[in-house]
Amino acid sequence: MEPKKSIDRDPSAARIPFSDTPQDTVLPAVKKVDTPPDPSAKKPPKKAVIEIKNLYKNFGIVRGEVKVLRDINFTIHEGEFLLILGPSGSGKSTLLNAILGLELPSAGNIVINGKDITKMTPDERATFRLKNVGIIFQKPDWIKSLSVIENVAFPLAAAESTPQDQFTGAKKHLESVGMLGHADFRPYQLSAGQQELVEFARAMVLDPHMIIADEPTGNLDSDSANKVMEMFQALNEKQGATIIMVTHNIGHVKYASRTIYLKDGKILDGSSAYTAADLEELEATPVI
Ligand SMILES: Nc1ncnc2c1ncn2[C@@H]1O[C@H](COP(=O)(O)OP(=O)(O)OP(=O)(O)O)[C@@H](O)[C@H]1O
Ligand SMILES: [Mg+2]
Repeated sequence: MEPKKSIDRDPSAARIPFSDTPQDTVLPAVKKVDTPPDPSAKKPPKKAVIEIKNLYKNFGIVRGEVKVLRDINFTIHEGEFLLILGPSGSGKSTLLNAILGLELPSAGNIVINGKDITKMTPDERATFRLKNVGIIFQKPDWIKSLSVIENVAFPLAAAESTPQDQFTGAKKHLESVGMLGHADFRPYQLSAGQQELVEFARAMVLDPHMIIADEPTGNLDSDSANKVMEMFQALNEKQGATIIMVTHNIGHVKYASRTIYLKDGKILDGSSAYTAADLEELEATPVI
């Protein structure tokens, strides 16, 4: 299958070339009429929040190195819900870690809100993450000595909220995912699916305008997964949060505004028009 073309085509490409219009042809004057605004007309493009340019990531291994990301280029606009699909080992988590500034790229740039994350100090990157991003990791990074509610409150504590606000904020978000009854467990005493729900609560506790989530529903049953996806969708549509999510579930395409497909460290194509059948075919497309 030919990968679908990007929706951001140059509109001028569809114009009739000048040479097709004979020099002496007089074109009828176009009468200007005041038409009401077309509600279906494309809205002006939103601000670019993340620009990824010529991104490469290699890792040194016992002998030699492995090329994990190979010339990744794409832009994420404010308010997008971007889904990243691709087989295991294709580099999805590595890409998210690079966007978060947790893994520095081997080459290329990641510009977030006009600032190149690859040029920030480790402290600046940590502050950037705390202030801007709700993060859901593929492998949760719990503070093992803290209870569930203390883990959820932790970003509020790091942001210097009062102890009362930490408690009420954490309680509210645990309640929203149905996990308040487990507030006094330690995170590793929960099932993998329960931990995902608590991770969701922790990621939302500072009301982030950007959410980066790595397989946030991988351990949930389909009903719970759909509920979590609906919460992401509401955050995106009602609060305008920009969401970047990795998933293996092709059924999640319907929640996103755009899907990109990563294979062997390369993006095959970016489009809003993928169907589940297209994605199944992409799985079989060799990477050049
Ligand atoms: N620190 C590392 N050192 C060496 N190789 C690494 C390192 N981190 C990742 N890799 C390699 O990079 C490749 C991509 O890994 P990554 O975790 O990004 O895949 P993924 O697409 O997220 O897979 P999955 O769907 O299974 O989570 C893998 O082959 C992995 O072995
Ligand atoms: Mg991964």
